[in-house]
Amino acid sequence: MGQSRLDQCGWSSFDPALFFDEPGRVARRAGPATHDMIRDFSPGQAVLELCCGGGALSIYLAQSGFDVTAVDLSEKMLNQFQKQMAGCDETTRNRLNLVRADVCAFDLGRQFDFIILEDDGLGYLLNAEDQQACMGRISRHLAPDGRCLLTNMTPDLEKTASKAFEYDRETHILTRPHHWTSTDAGGQRTVIHQGFERRYLYECGQLQRLIHSVGLEVFKRWGDLNRAPFKDPATQEYVLLIQHA
Ligand SMILES: C[S@@+](CC[C@H](N)C(=O)[O-])C[C@H]1O[C@@H](n2cnc3c(N)ncnc32)[C@H](O)[C@@H]1O
Repeated sequence: MGQSRLDQCGWSSFDPALFFDEPGRVARRAGPATHDMIRDFSPGQAVLELCCGGGALSIYLAQSGFDVTAVDLSEKMLNQFQKQMAGCDETTRNRLNLVRADVCAFDLGRQFDFIILEDDGLGYLLNAEDQQACMGRISRHLAPDGRCLLTNMTPDLEKTASKAFEYDRETHILTRPHHWTSTDAGGQRTVIHQGFERRYLYECGQLQRLIHSVGLEVFKRWGDLNRAPFKDPATQEYVLLIQHA
């Protein structure tokens, strides 16, 4: 069941080396902002990152002194994570614990001060049952005074529907091609990987209801990771800090 979730959302066909090796790629800058959120809002140092992918954020946080457990279902992604980890010093490596598991069904037997599901991880769960299962797992693994950072894209559906990708209004599922390009020294771009991604787009209020349904509540809400004010629900990224109700 777990593997088929990866197949459905498109991540099983993805080449994780692209997250690190592709020369034209601009590195994501989630690290410093997430570090500051943990510093400001977490009651402790124990961090859990769900859908950690190749580990860029988890490694950054471990290098900053947090103890990080990182979960992903993709073996290829976790192999890439391990390669990155091999280049880290021993103290950082000792702060990292990698677990291959499905975010809808994991049980780590302990709780965490801060849980992260960012980079639209929740969007890769394509139906209500999986979304509910994942939120339930989060609630169970969150310490009584812990906080969870959830980021989720909610693009303008009108604009989305008119572009080159497909959006199914009944299932709420957006399917779009991935074209990873490499840019050489002369500015020439070449497509080096093609795949697809499928993600679930939440309607306004739906995410909130999901959070409440597992006994959690929204504690803070921003428009981006740098804590810009939240403005228009139709076009913005939701950056939510949630806690036990
Ligand atoms: C956008 S990528 C994360 C990339 C990561 N933020 C980074 O910078 O490397 C989404 C990740 O979600 C993982 N994923 C998707 N569905 C999952 C599931 N049901 N359980 C665990 N991981 C899942 C994929 O394997 C993929 O690594």
